[in-house]
Amino acid sequence: MSAQAQIKRQTVVDIVAHKNGQPVVMLTAYTAPMAKLFDPHVDMLLVGDSLGMVLYGMDTTLPVTLEMMIAHGAAVVRGSQQAMVVVDMPFGSYQESPAQAFRNAARVLSESGAAAVKLEGGEEMAETVDFLVRRGVPVVGHVGLTPQHVNAFGGFRSRGRGEAEADKIRRDAQAISDAGAFAIVIEGTVEQLAREITASVNAVTIGIGASPACDGQVLVSEDILGLFTDFRPKFVKRYADLASTVSDAAATYADEVRSRAFPSAEYCFGVKKG
Ligand code: KIV
Repeated sequence: MSAQAQIKRQTVVDIVAHKNGQPVVMLTAYTAPMAKLFDPHVDMLLVGDSLGMVLYGMDTTLPVTLEMMIAHGAAVVRGSQQAMVVVDMPFGSYQESPAQAFRNAARVLSESGAAAVKLEGGEEMAETVDFLVRRGVPVVGHVGLTPQHVNAFGGFRSRGRGEAEADKIRRDAQAISDAGAFAIVIEGTVEQLAREITASVNAVTIGIGASPACDGQVLVSEDILGLFTDFRPKFVKRYADLASTVSDAAATYADEVRSRAFPSAEYCFGVKKG
């Protein structure tokens, strides 16, 4: 058996073992090369439907299709070896009925090779989560600021500051966890609420803009790398400024092509150096 074949992917059992333990590390990945770079460092790779905005320049995640998610999911699976790969169910691919959700989730798992799907919503999605989990589809929930509800929410803003909204998010997380989701992304909410939810649900909570009180953290990779600069949510920490690096490299290449400095002899066939 080759050394590569011995690397074991993280499973649902491994991720669930993080509850009340070492934080789960999750990053988004949309392509094979990025997945390869992140894989040794993370427990989970999320092929988020944020790819619509980050990669495709869409204003929201709503136009993202199942075919896009499957293609990017398969690329991330090919690029990674040990992280669990989770693929987002795009808007319109699961809300209609549990049967529709199963049909499309089965396509995601079988055609991409990912291990789990993520879907947005709370109490209203509990029946669907239960339907999927009972039929062998591991589910990650997503509550709080759920970007597919952008039209209903009237924009992307943090959720759960008022008691009524906080109570709804509490009930949403509980319902999804009770329905069998093994993990729940909690997005854009206050620490006290994230703490309460984390203490009361069985699912592993993974925060994005939801404080360190969660069982783990996720961020959009292009945000932490400083590659997506259209806007910067308050909860994003930049660990690199790759936008400047990429822009400088492109500018230097352009200058060298225009001045004929590139390609010099070392980059040409059949030309003697010096
Ligand atoms: O689509 C996405 O990238 C997500 C994360 C922001 C959690 O859902």
